[in-house]
Amino acid sequence: MRRKLVVANRKMNGNLQTNKAFLEGLITGTRGYSNADYVVCVPHPYLFQAQAILKDSSIAWGGQNMSRYQSGAYTGSVSPNMLIEFGCEYVIIGHSERRQRGFDTDLSTGERFEVATKAGLKPIFCMGETLAEYEEGLTDIVTIRQLNAVIHEIGVLGLSGGILAYEPVWAIGTGKAATPEHAQNVLSFLRGHIEILDAELAQNIRILYGGSVNATNAAKLFSMPDIDGALVGGASLNTDEFLAICRAANNA
Ligand code: 13P
Repeated sequence: MRRKLVVANRKMNGNLQTNKAFLEGLITGTRGYSNADYVVCVPHPYLFQAQAILKDSSIAWGGQNMSRYQSGAYTGSVSPNMLIEFGCEYVIIGHSERRQRGFDTDLSTGERFEVATKAGLKPIFCMGETLAEYEEGLTDIVTIRQLNAVIHEIGVLGLSGGILAYEPVWAIGTGKAATPEHAQNVLSFLRGHIEILDAELAQNIRILYGGSVNATNAAKLFSMPDIDGALVGGASLNTDEFLAICRAANNA
């Protein structure tokens, strides 16, 4: 039985004051929700703060990106060991907001998935098609291409150190979440692809849905057999709304 996982991707939002209120609210608010797992991914400058506030709680934290290198002349980049030094357990890899601006490619996401797991981090690997690709019926082809880039790099069993997330680009920040049925179909397809390669891993790996998840649609999404939780952007900027999503995961 896979435990549900809810990840807050706070993107480039927050400040010391609002982060503090959110993180403390989360500790208190999730106290009774022990059936699921919760993670907060903050902008890198706030990792120190996240560590200070969350360190004795059951809530984990992570970065939103990571270099494939451990050190060197890479101005503006953050290494896996830097994330680990600030207590990160997770790191988001291949978010479409980075892919679309050319910062992440299939090749670089595969490489960094491997580097992250070797360093002891759990990558949260994002896949998803654009609106044009969706309308052309290319969802399966695009997501499999993105997933295979990682499998090619580390082998299917290498996936076991991470989390997968299907985030259709057209659903991110638009208020138009995928229907639970569409999300379920894609996740079932991805899990089926893994199952051909390793049946046990397919049963165990957690696959999240992301894209306009909110307090209203979370419970229905979480009732789908292959949806193991959510990667939440906008709704993670409101403590009460995010806690409602955590509650839905706990009760699913
Ligand atoms: P929204 O929840 O704002 O649609 O963002 C989803 C996302 O990109 C999480 O990584």
